[in-house]
Amino acid sequence: MEIRKVGVVGCGLMGSGIAQVSAMAGYTTVVREVSQALLDKGLGAIEKSLAKLVEKGTLSSEQKSQTAARLKPTLRLEEFADCDLVIEAIIENLERKKELFGELDRIVKPDAIFASNTSSLSITEVMTATERAPRFLGLHFFNPVPLMKLVELVKTVVTDPAAVQAALDFARKLGKTPILTSDRAGFIVNRLLVPYLLDAIRMLEEGFGTIEDIDQGMKLGCNHPMGPFTLLDFVGIDTTYYIAEILFNEYREKRFAPPPLLKRMVLAGMYGRKTGKGFYDYSDPKSPQPNRLLT
Ligand SMILES: NC(=O)c1ccc[n+]([C@@H]2O[C@H](COP(=O)([O-])OP(=O)(O)OC[C@H]3O[C@@H](n4cnc5c(N)ncnc54)[C@H](O)[C@@H]3O)[C@@H](O)[C@H]2O)c1
Repeated sequence: MEIRKVGVVGCGLMGSGIAQVSAMAGYTTVVREVSQALLDKGLGAIEKSLAKLVEKGTLSSEQKSQTAARLKPTLRLEEFADCDLVIEAIIENLERKKELFGELDRIVKPDAIFASNTSSLSITEVMTATERAPRFLGLHFFNPVPLMKLVELVKTVVTDPAAVQAALDFARKLGKTPILTSDRAGFIVNRLLVPYLLDAIRMLEEGFGTIEDIDQGMKLGCNHPMGPFTLLDFVGIDTTYYIAEILFNEYREKRFAPPPLLKRMVLAGMYGRKTGKGFYDYSDPKSPQPNRLLT
């Protein structure tokens, strides 16, 4: 199961990053979007990211042009036919992903490996849309893909060990550190991280401390690069709520239940950095202030 040609479906935030690191690692990489405008937008993001790496001295100008030459942008799924690995990074919607994989299954050669970059859906459930269960797995990258070292490799109860090995080798060739996990909601990182973030919200609700003191506690007491509320605003209040619901539905345990404040913030449109207000107010982005409306 040697991987030589890679396909990436979706050229949004994650897909553009995955296509970029794949091409940088020397793979011919086909990347597909649903419209020319979205494809151009994704390629623009890749170009900007590559230019930054050249500026920093991580990449030479020659490597940058070689990387760009390995990228094969397309609007047609048929271009994936002879790919050895196809990674899906489209919107987080089960029906849309199943529909896409069903179509890809008919187009792409039968011995190719399929991977989903889903954060929260069941790999096993997405896999059922195809006839290639042994060669279906999860490759969960982290944002921003060119900078984050981790990839969670998710295997199902039927994944072929040879496919796992090929995907591990691929992730390492991208310069990433893969960790192996089974298909359980949250995988390793979100299963641990999300209950911690939800607990920080409960502590705020229960009056343990202010937003800035709880953040300082974890920064200075545990050497975390940022406190839980700063991180919640980065991840997105809406995204955290969505993942908490999925974890709660899977495990039916109180610790995964979204706290009332989280739900109220979503309803009020306080999504964090992306809307300018979350646990902090970003009216002055250089100096975010704790959102006093919440306390
Ligand atoms: N954003 C994150 O931090 C993050 C981290 C890890 C995993 N993920 C997962 O990665 C996936 C993509 O997330 P994102 O943040 O990049 O979303 P995004 O909205 O930035 O990008 C998704 C892109 O997929 C395109 N698309 C939709 N259907 C398509 C199709 N049939 N063919 C080709 N392109 C199609 C959309 O036009 C859009 O540009 C999701 O499953 C998400 O859960 C996201």
